[in-house]
Parts: sequence; structure tokens; C-alpha cells
Amino acid sequence: MEFSRNNSRQLLSKIATNDGHGENSPYFDGWKAYDSNPFHPTQNPHGVIQMGLAENQLCFDLIEKWILENPDASICTAEGVDKFRDIAIFQDYHGLKELERRYLLLQGVAKFMGRIGGNRVTFDPNRIVMSGGATGANETVMFCLADPGDAFLVPSPYYAGFARDLRWRTGMDIVPVDCESWNNFRITRAALEEAYEKAQRSNINIKGVIIANPSNPLGTVLDKDTMRSLISFINDKSIHLVCDEIYAATVFGSPRFTSIAEIIQDMDCDRDLIHIVYSLSKDMGSLTQFLLAAMLNDEEFVGNFLRESSKRLAKRHNVFTKGLERVGISSLKSHAGLFFWMDMRPLLKEQTVKAEIELWRVIINKVKLNVSPGSSFQCSEPGWFRVCFANMDDETVEVALERIREFVLQGKEKNHSSEKSKHWKNQNLRLSFSSSRLYDESLISPHMMSPHSPIPRSPLVRARN
Ligand SMILES: Cc1ncc(COP(=O)(O)O)c(C=O)c1O
Repeated sequence: MEFSRNNSRQLLSKIATNDGHGENSPYFDGWKAYDSNPFHPTQNPHGVIQMGLAENQLCFDLIEKWILENPDASICTAEGVDKFRDIAIFQDYHGLKELERRYLLLQGVAKFMGRIGGNRVTFDPNRIVMSGGATGANETVMFCLADPGDAFLVPSPYYAGFARDLRWRTGMDIVPVDCESWNNFRITRAALEEAYEKAQRSNINIKGVIIANPSNPLGTVLDKDTMRSLISFINDKSIHLVCDEIYAATVFGSPRFTSIAEIIQDMDCDRDLIHIVYSLSKDMGSLTQFLLAAMLNDEEFVGNFLRESSKRLAKRHNVFTKGLERVGISSLKSHAGLFFWMDMRPLLKEQTVKAEIELWRVIINKVKLNVSPGSSFQCSEPGWFRVCFANMDDETVEVALERIREFVLQGKEKNHSSEKSKHWKNQNLRLSFSSSRLYDESLISPHMMSPHSPIPRSPLVRARN
């Protein structure tokens, strides 16, 4: 008998099928472009280089070495397999059930967070709640602090994933606080007040402010005065402050990173309004709790890892930014994160988001680099691009730089005559895209996806009914 489905019935929930997942943006389109044509030095040398993923591959060798030297920290080795039965059974939602091991892990995380904050503040392991990464933690925090229809202020430019993680399932909203390049995108009290008052006039209930410090996409850290001013702002309004400190250990220059936890030590404020989100994914990748408990408590390893990691990040950042400077491309001065904020304003046909997206299309389709346009981070000024620099090997860096160099030089040559320049720009910028969406998801088959693309593996994003 043939199965027939009544198509008028809504099979999936409204959340699964609505368009609020925030992934309709060039930030995610760039990942798809990479996935459908990934660069490989020999097998696909003309493919797209992934520079849109804030991933840190520079110290994997240190982690691998530690794992080999500590086989009993993994249940997948002869030395550690006898722990399998303890781990395989039901685990408490708060983390590993095996109490001793759980405490060891929380203690390890607390010590690690204290250490990357320069040991100027200590964290109480009993006040740490575990979740599956900062993505889940940020969403959970929003579920706890905001009701559907409420909003959080988010200084822009901000991490493109916030549009999805904070809003999609919670039903809360984001109100951007516009920050600008004239003062290095500083978060000012005036900008916060303006966004807050504007929201109030529109009857939007602001429940808090969420920031990433160090910033994604800027790669800069917040100064103490800005943090103090943020704290007094949220205190005066009796709203929350969520500090996503996921990049705390990526600082490779000065000034050093200061955790919000350090600032509130000397401030008279309501500490219940302040929440810190932290994740190890930017430093150590995805390790299991069991393994982490042992690794984070190995003080010597952690010390060496942190030193070496910031040294390697500094070196790579330098190679990239100096390489770009040589062809006349500048970037916001930064010293944290796994990316920097590249200034392509001089290459825009006009200072609009439309022109920024046109330039981005040229970069991804002709130059074959996946960098993310500032508009996907809600930057109020067109022409800025986020460039990730830690997720590739040295050879790929050279290929990427060479491509940018060629692209810029080609533009400059053609720029000699203004008539020609017009022609060059029009020719390149008017690419073959008639629709504003670059890629049709349904055209990309799962086997083509790189393991680095969270999108295609999310069944909800593809859900239609
Ligand atoms: C500011 C920020 N928060 C959270 C995340 C997601 O963290 P996780 O991989 O731990 O879920 C990212 C990832 O890029 C990020 O940049």
C-alpha cells in the first residue's frame, strides 16, 4: 500500500521551521562556499581558503603530546579503559557523576580561568555550571534571564552567532549598541544610554547587556574603565551583564586581559547581575570532561601551553597583518582572539553595506577567500571584514596572502586610469549573482561538507515543514 502524507498538517514545531535561526547571513554563506570547494594545496589549489572560522589549530601538537604522555587520562586506552564503566553509565546533568572526578574538573576549570586572568582573581568551583560549549551556555543564560519579546543590548560589531544562539529558540531579541571606528569601537556609556532609551521608546523591555571580551570580531580587550562604566550602567538600570570571555586565553600582546570578575572585586555592585561564560573550545578543541579533569590540573602543562599558545598566535597575527600592510591594507590594532578586523573601506565602490557585500562576493568567488563581512557582525560602518588566522598551516597563510596581494595589485594597476578603474570595479563587482542569497542549501550534498561546518549538520536549519 502506498504511503500518503497529509501535507496540510504542520509536522514540525514553529521554532524548528521559522526563519529566526540567524543563519541567513554572509557569515554562514561563506562557510558553505568553503564547504563546496575547499582549498587543498595539491588536490584543490584553487579552492576557497577558510578564513571565516575562529578556530585555533596552532597548539594541537602540545595537546597531542600531553595525551600521549598521559594515557590513563583517556578511557580509550589500555591504561584508562578500566574507568570506562564509571563513565559509561548515566551522568548527572551538572557534569560527571563520579563526584571526585567532577570536583577535579570544576577545580581544574576554576584554576585555569584564574590563571588566564593573571591569578588576580579566584573562581569558586562550586559556582561553575557546566554546559556543552559557550553556544549552549549563552542560550541557557538567555532562557534564564529573558522572556520571549525581551531584549539584550549587544555592542556592535558582535559575534555573528549571537543572532542565532541568543534569539532563535528563546524568542528574545537583540538591540545593537552602535560602536564606531573613530574611537576604536569603544563601548561608551552614551551609546549604551542611547540604545537603551530608543528601546524603551519602542516598548522593548531590555533585560541586560551581553559582551564578548576579548571581542569577536575585533580581537581587542576591554579596558578597565569601560568595564567599570558597563557595570555602573547595568546597576543603575537593574539589568544583567553577561560577559562571554571565551577568548580570554588568546591574548598575545598588551594590554593584558582583565576578567570582569576582577573588576567587581573593587566595585560596589550587585554581583547577582553579572554572569561569566567561558569555554575551552578556542584553546584546546573539544575534549571530554574526563580527559580535561586531568589535563587542567597538570599545572606545568597548562603554564607551558598558555605561554606557547600566545607566542604562536602573536607570530601568526604578525605575519598576516604585516603581509597585508605591505599591499596597503590596514586593520584595527588588536592583540587577542583568533582573528583581526581588516579595513577594506578604501576598496568599496561606495560606503554602503550593498557595496561591502559586492566586494565580499568578489573576494569569495574570485579571490577564493572566506572572510566575513562586517555587516554580518552588525558593524555600523561598511567595509570592515573579519579575518581568522589560526585555523590553517603556514603554507596556506602564504597562499592566502599571495591571493590578496594579487587582487589588490590587480586593482591598483587597473586603477591608473579612472575610466579603466570604473571598468575594473564594475566587471568584478557585478558578478553572476542575481539573488541576494549566495547558495541554495539544497544543492549542497552532505558528503561535500567539511567536518568544520556546523550548518549542514543542524537538521533544524534545513527543516521546511
Ligand atoms: C564570542 C563567542 N562566543 C561563543 C562561541 C561558541 O563557543 P563554543 O564553541 O564553545 O560553543 C564563539 C565561537 O566562535 C564565539 O566567538
